[in-house]
Amino acid sequence: MAVAWPYASGPRHIGHVAGFGVPSDIFARYQRLRGARVLMVSGTDEHGTPILVAADREGISPREIADRYNAVIADDLQKLGLSYDLFTRTTTLNHARVVQDVFRTLYEKGYLLRQTQQGAFSAATGRALPDRYIEGTCPHCGSTGARGDQCDNCGQILDPVDLIEPRSRIDGQPPIFRESEHFLLDLPAFAGALTEWLESKTEWRSNVRRFSLNMVAELRPRAVTRDIDWGIHIPLPEFAVRDDKLIYVWFDAVIGYLSASVEWGRDRGEPESWRAWWQNPEASHFYFMGKDNIIFHSVIWPSMLMGYGSGGELGGGPPNLPLVLPENVVSSEFLTMEGQKFSSSRGIVIEVRDFLERYDPDSLRYYLTAAGPETQDTDFTWAEFIRRNNDELVATWGNLVHRTLTIAKKHFGEVPQPGALSERDQELVSAVEAGFDSVAQLLEAARFKAALAEVMALAAGVNQYLTENEPWRLVTTDRDRSATVLYVALRCIDNLKLLLLPFLPFSCQKLHLMLGHEGVIAPMPVKVTVAADGDPHPVLTGDYATPGVSWMTTHLAPGQQLGEPAPLFRKLDPELAQVELARMAPPPD
Ligand code: MF3
Ligand code: ZN
Repeated sequence: MAVAWPYASGPRHIGHVAGFGVPSDIFARYQRLRGARVLMVSGTDEHGTPILVAADREGISPREIADRYNAVIADDLQKLGLSYDLFTRTTTLNHARVVQDVFRTLYEKGYLLRQTQQGAFSAATGRALPDRYIEGTCPHCGSTGARGDQCDNCGQILDPVDLIEPRSRIDGQPPIFRESEHFLLDLPAFAGALTEWLESKTEWRSNVRRFSLNMVAELRPRAVTRDIDWGIHIPLPEFAVRDDKLIYVWFDAVIGYLSASVEWGRDRGEPESWRAWWQNPEASHFYFMGKDNIIFHSVIWPSMLMGYGSGGELGGGPPNLPLVLPENVVSSEFLTMEGQKFSSSRGIVIEVRDFLERYDPDSLRYYLTAAGPETQDTDFTWAEFIRRNNDELVATWGNLVHRTLTIAKKHFGEVPQPGALSERDQELVSAVEAGFDSVAQLLEAARFKAALAEVMALAAGVNQYLTENEPWRLVTTDRDRSATVLYVALRCIDNLKLLLLPFLPFSCQKLHLMLGHEGVIAPMPVKVTVAADGDPHPVLTGDYATPGVSWMTTHLAPGQQLGEPAPLFRKLDPELAQVELARMAPPPD
């Protein structure tokens, strides 16, 4: 499980976690329940121009920016309950070592071409002008806001020289282009292999596959070094001492998946264990990200993996196998905000940390899954968030749980002993139990929205059953029958709890205890400091084993003592939408 690395350039907003965060955690939690061994890695992306831009903006060093936002982001992800085995950083010694090994190996194998290229320099100062400071018109789609590294409108990766009418964002002047020596990844060398591989990936979301195949059709060598002074050194003698020409941030970041797996093993005193994940044809790698990241994961990183082959310093030695290519590249589209693009500078932003200060993580997870940008751009509105929270999460699922548990607790104190189940009772139980197959199929296909809708439809079915059978009335007229009805409902709820666990881990854990079970079924990430290599740094990690609980039909035991029922979710006042909108008003300038 490879989750895109958020830039440590500022607090992340809910659109970011809609893309890489929530979907990957749903998938990881589901796979673990299924009994798969999962290693879920990521970290903050701390090099490159995004960090330098933030450092300029806040008037502190890039190192301080990285420290500050690594802490903020790790905190957000922890509060959202994202179950990383390791969430680390790209500024670790281990990461630099792995990146340099990959660079050196690709160079030795002839996949890095040394060429002088046109580099952009500021007309006013003569200093190298980083990509993100250069703006112009995209040669592919004509969008006017394209940056020197990428066009956010069409997703094409760019070089500053590609831009039509380039200008510096600092002073608006056109940059000067001068010769500058760089290392270029020989992507055309992999075009044949990439095409064949991508064509075999028929189960990928079609946007990702089509987009990637188009890219492969027009591949050129891409520079993997930059004129920049914040990043990882080029591991070749004459460059190792230069602080002004370093490895390109994207080249370094994608290697994070590999280096974090290595770190994970070293932190546990098993330095060779990464091979079981990366040099094992049985391992399946799933990548999760927003759509502006696709090309790096479906074309560039696979080329690097193919080029690295069976190693370098790290990868050499038994089992001498090539590194595993992505099994699937799962990409979300964009989330807009009340009809506008997110923009911190214009105040159009909802930071994860603010959101979680006022609302529960499961409410956000629910919304982002049910109404998020899974396959098309989607708009977040506060009114819709509140509506879905109240009408779906609270009304369908929360109320079902609450009313069933309250009556059962009040009149029986335990899971009631049922009489014989009627045909209708049995049908309902079977329908819910069939969810373990139907929901699984959707989850395997990374169709999270449909999977959640399927579980919610099953929950609605149980609600319907309660309304038909009115156990609250039956308790006085036909206590035996009410026991059966409540038993059926509770047993369905116990199953639905597992079906919902990947989506709503916090509330399902609470429910588990209310149903009278014990133990942790939704383990949460913890923050610790690791110190392998004498390089202490904070990480998120966790032990996500759930002994005794798996993706399987449960048979709730009659007679089990019930816990204290409490509402799982909060109903939100619709007036809050106005309050939140007012909060988002752009700051007066
Ligand atoms: N930092 C990038 C972004 O936020 C994502 C990097 S993903 C990685 O868009 F694979 F390169 F790590
Ligand atoms: Zn474009």
